[in-house]
Amino acid sequence: MIKLAKRVGRISPSPTLRMTAEAKAMAARGVDVIDFAAGEPDLDTPDAVKEAGIAAIRAGFTKYTASGGIDELKVAVIDKLKRDQGLAYDKSQILISCGAKHSLYNLGQALFEAGDEVLIPAPYWVSYPDQAVLNDATPVMIPTEEATGFQLTGGLVERYVTERTKAIIVNSPSNPTGAVYQVRTLQAIAEVALRRNFLIISDEIYEKMVYDGARHESIASLGKDVQARTVVVNGVSKAYAMTGWRIGYSAGPVDVISAMGTVQSQSTSNPNSMAQKAAVTALNQGEPFITAMVTEFDKRRRFMVERLNKIPGVHCMMPSGAFYAFPHIGQLLGRKSGGEPISSSTALATYFLTEARVATVPGEAFGAPDHLRFSYATSMRNIADGLDRIEAAILRLS
Ligand SMILES: Cc1ncc(COP(=O)(O)O)c(C=O)c1O
Repeated sequence: MIKLAKRVGRISPSPTLRMTAEAKAMAARGVDVIDFAAGEPDLDTPDAVKEAGIAAIRAGFTKYTASGGIDELKVAVIDKLKRDQGLAYDKSQILISCGAKHSLYNLGQALFEAGDEVLIPAPYWVSYPDQAVLNDATPVMIPTEEATGFQLTGGLVERYVTERTKAIIVNSPSNPTGAVYQVRTLQAIAEVALRRNFLIISDEIYEKMVYDGARHESIASLGKDVQARTVVVNGVSKAYAMTGWRIGYSAGPVDVISAMGTVQSQSTSNPNSMAQKAAVTALNQGEPFITAMVTEFDKRRRFMVERLNKIPGVHCMMPSGAFYAFPHIGQLLGRKSGGEPISSSTALATYFLTEARVATVPGEAFGAPDHLRFSYATSMRNIADGLDRIEAAILRLS
């Protein structure tokens, strides 16, 4: 028996990826399964972006690049942050990585150590706590409530700050809740971070998916002092349907970005060369694609949430961002299938997968045991069929 490092025993495989893999395996066996678990747009990568990748391969752009990414992509990121957020950065403040998840991992490696506490508003994206733990830090969850739209307040943040607090992770629009933080929420978080002297990690990967007039605001844009304390993390995966290309980026203080770059140079080296070229095209020309995708997601969002609210025992807040519905299913827990009580959201998700052939992600994974996450990044037909199946499966419970 090989003795593994203790750190791997402290984390678990990503539950979202596991659920998606299970749904894919069922589909491969010929089972007609509907996947609401995947965290990716169902649309294809835009043609112009694909062509840029193909052109890069044809031109022989297939070798190592600078470890922290090509200048052309850094410039495209700088232009994007100026255009969309009004933020000014220099190339030394940008690092290109293999997806935003990798950006966050590099950041954890560069920042966290034993004794550090990382504030994570709950419900949270599954990888935040595990990445803190992987880097010997302690995740400290800040609970937020559905009744207040899962918004944070300055007072709530303050309650969890100690002299060990190293950083807070802000994720707006949020995976899984779809909450978009109001500007006054961001101002309150920034005020506490400046006064109590900790960093802000702002994961803005869903920034383009906002609805009902909600506006995404980067916390870094609240002032030069806030920008100096913030690392913005973003990427092309969600906005341009490019999850498989693996390009993410970070923008922040030179010393932090430089340390992250050193970590990257000793681990992965550069992100994929042709994917970097494709990402340049996405950032410079991808806006019309986003507009069309978000218009489509908006229709699906309304349909899914309205339908979920008609299912007995389920209620669902209308999310303002991202592409997830996050219904409350607490009333269903304790109901029985074949005499066996369904006592957790994990058991309920398993019941839906086996009995309704619908994949969802249990709320436990996000620190919200009374919820399930449903992605609406799938066809209207799948949404309609999948929710009919879920309702029928619920009606079979005793
Ligand atoms: C909140 C959040 N951050 C970061 C990521 C990582 O995205 P990627 O590594 O594909 O850029 C995801 C993907 O699911 C996410 O939901």
